[in-house]
Order: sequence, then C-alpha cells, then structure tokens
Amino acid sequence: MTDPKTFIEANKERLLDELFSLLRIPSISADPAYNADVAKCAEHIAEQMKSLGLDAVEIFPTAGHPIVYGECLVDPDLPTVLVYGHYDVQPADPIDLWDNDPFEPIIKNTTIHPEGAIFARGACDDKGQMFMHLKAFEIMKSNGEIPCNIKFMIEGEEEVGSSNLEPFVASHKEKLACDTILISDTGMISNTTPSITTGLRGLSYVEVEVTGANRDLHSGLYGGAVANPLNVLAKMVASLHDDNGQITVEGFYDGVEIVSTEERALMAKAPFSQEEFKESIGIGDVWGEEGYSTPERTSIRPTLDVNGMWGGYTGEGAKTVIPSKAYAKISMRLVPGQNPEAITEKFIKHFKAIAPDSVAINVTPHHGGLPYVTHTTNPAYQAASKAYEKTFGKAALPVRSGGSIPIVALFEQQLGTKSILMGFGLDSDAIHSPNEHYGVFNYFKGIETIPYFYENYAKQN
Ligand code: BES
Ligand code: MN
Ligand code: MN
Repeated sequence: MTDPKTFIEANKERLLDELFSLLRIPSISADPAYNADVAKCAEHIAEQMKSLGLDAVEIFPTAGHPIVYGECLVDPDLPTVLVYGHYDVQPADPIDLWDNDPFEPIIKNTTIHPEGAIFARGACDDKGQMFMHLKAFEIMKSNGEIPCNIKFMIEGEEEVGSSNLEPFVASHKEKLACDTILISDTGMISNTTPSITTGLRGLSYVEVEVTGANRDLHSGLYGGAVANPLNVLAKMVASLHDDNGQITVEGFYDGVEIVSTEERALMAKAPFSQEEFKESIGIGDVWGEEGYSTPERTSIRPTLDVNGMWGGYTGEGAKTVIPSKAYAKISMRLVPGQNPEAITEKFIKHFKAIAPDSVAINVTPHHGGLPYVTHTTNPAYQAASKAYEKTFGKAALPVRSGGSIPIVALFEQQLGTKSILMGFGLDSDAIHSPNEHYGVFNYFKGIETIPYFYENYAKQN
C-alpha cells in the first residue's frame, strides 16, 4: 500500500479544515434546543460519505436522532468490517470554563500535545475519532486499494444512551452483518505507549428523590424535630461505601469476575505513575477500594458515584429552610459478571431499606449498559496490533478501560460480532469537560494506522 503518511503530509490543512467544519455544528443530543443542529450534523456526514463515493448512503430517522449509514462492498469473498462511531456530543456546560467557543475549534499547543491539539466539544469524543475513519477510507480509495468490505454506521445518540440504536440494529441485522466491528471512541495510554482497549465497563444509572415534610419548613420553627431530607440523603449516600472503599449495596459484588493474577500482573506492567496521576488532576491523595491499584480501580472493579446532588436553597445569600425534597443522580460502573438491570434492582431495594421512616424514597432508573471484554486472541485484535506496530514502531498494550459504550455489548448480543476498540484519545483530553481537545498527532496517527488494520485483517481471512 502507498504509505498513508504521504497522503496525510500532502493534505494536512484540508484534513484539519474538514474536521473543523464538523466540529462547528453543535450536535448536542441531550438538549432538544439543538435538535436542528443534530439533524444538520447527520446531513453533513451523509454528504461527506457521498463525496467519498460510498454507496447506499442513507440517513435513517429514529424516534430520537438519526443514524447515518454508508457502505463500500468490494467483494463478497472478502471480510466485512462495520465501522461504528457517534456524531453527537455532550453539552458544553459549564461554558464559562472554556477558553474558546466550544463550537469554534482552535489549535493550541499543550505540554502533552507539543504538536498542537484541537480544542472543541467533540474534538476527541467522538467527532475527531469517528472522522479519522472516513479520511482513512479516502486514503484507501485514492490508492485504489480497498482490502475489505466496509460499512459505516454513525449514530447521534451515544451520549444519551443509544436507546434508538438498539431496535435499529435488531431490525437491520442483514444490512449490518459483518465479521468485525471497528470503533475509535476510547483512548490509549500515551502518544509514546499505544494501547488497544480490550474492555469497557457497564453502567447502571439512577436518580433518587428523598421526601420529608409535605412542604418546605421554617428551619427555626420546625428544625430539630423534623428530618431534613438533605441531611438524610447525605448520610445515606455516605453509607454506600464502607471504610475499605467497598460498596455496601447488598449483593453488589455477586458474580463479579475475578481477574486472574496473571492478567493483573500484565496490567501492572503498563506504565503508570501515581504521582503524575495525582498531579494531573490536582489531588492530594488517591482514594478507592482496598487491595487494588489505581489502574485496577478504574478498569476491573465496579464503582458507585454521585454525579450530582441538590435540593433546598442554593441561591444568593441565606434562606432558613428545611427543604421538603432532596435529590441525587448516582451512577454505578459495572464489570463482567454484573447486569445493569439486576444492579439497579439491588440498589433500589438497598436504598429503600436503609432509609429512616422520617422520609419517603423514590428511585427512577435511567439508561444502563452491559460491560464488554474481548481477548487479544481475537483476529481483529491481532490485525490492529500489527497496524500499531507499523505506525508507532512498537507493540500496543491491551488495556481495559473504565468508560462505557453500552452498544458494544449489544452488538455482540444482536449481531454476534465482537468489536475492536482502536481509540486514539488520551485521558487528559478532557472529554465531557470544558476545553475538550484532541491531539493533532493523534488525529493524523489514527488516519495513518486505520488503513493498515484493513490490510492486515483482509490478509488473515
Ligand atoms: N467515548 C465515551 C466512552 C469512553 C471514553 C470509553 C474513553 C473509554 C474511554 C462515550 O462517548 C461515553 O461518554 N460514554 C458514557 C456512557 C454513555 C451511556 C453516556 C460514559 O462512559 O459515561
Ligand atoms: Mn464517545
Ligand atoms: Mn462521551
């Protein structure tokens, strides 16, 4: 194959400009105020696909945001790769903490990205990474060498739980049939230590409502005699972990896969500095489950976290009140052996059981997702691994990630196909945060590496 590097070198500016156009569309899936932009983004991608010469390009409407599809089927005897990605992004808030307009991308150098990074919402998660696949296809096409059949499915609801993608997959099994699924929506260890993601955590997400009195009360007239739902909620939340950092929800760890000593030893070989970790996020010390290292705590162990907690008076100055209600949004990251529905049920039962009679509890489940693991023996992993060796000059390490992409386990259930997670982002890229960015190096390296994946994968089959 003609070296993709040559193409990238000659087209640098255009490759950046085209990504910038995509990043300028505020395709925030969670906020209905942006529905028209989400639709516009789907059209933009469909136009890109058409101009690359993909066939059967179609925008599939759903009950939520549309799915964009396009394909290039070269030969029924060749293997078929389904590329999945998402064009929707997280809301940009808190907007004040951005140094630039989140939808007006700019390039700035950082310590970690001395060759520049693209600052914009979605730069890394997932527009920048998804777009690499279209550009890698462009390279293969311009070389006249498309080694596999390729199908692209880019959705617009990943950040809100992919709830309409599941029925779409279930009803388009024939259309989406493939030998492997290729996804760039995760990260790697660093720009000098490439890694391939072999696991994702699952997710169970609930919202709790604690109700005390039937109205807000004067905290002088009633204070001391009536339970304050915020005080009660704080105590209940605090009790969800014991002194060893273990989660106290009854049966929470039932069935949790015990990772072998060998795999833990292998994990421990991946470069990690506790000091740099602490410094990078400005903490005095780490916290977590006794008996596990920081990388283990964020990958092979389940967690429980409060994402937000509110109630009562939070405005200017002081108002003396015992609020009637208190709320919290709680997420639990799950590992193999745990099931999101079962965990949600266990949480609800436990949370109601620990509540005092002075309050009433209501729990609303939100979206969830199953965990996912794949093995390094997977032929697609091998093809990816060789591709990284070619472009980074060294082998990629297998790493389980702490994040979740619930649709990956559903692909396996519905299509019977494993996914290979070739992510090029870095943990420090601030996805979902203000000043999200994606390294220019990472963008180009991804575009360079992907064509080798296809080449290797086709050769194996
Ligand atoms: N791309 C991320 C997931 C991710 C990031 C996995 C980095 C591994 C490394 C995805 O867009 C995401 O944000 N997922 C959500 C869950 C989803 C249901 C909203 C998450 O992990 O919180
Ligand atoms: Mn993503
Ligand atoms: Mn995300």
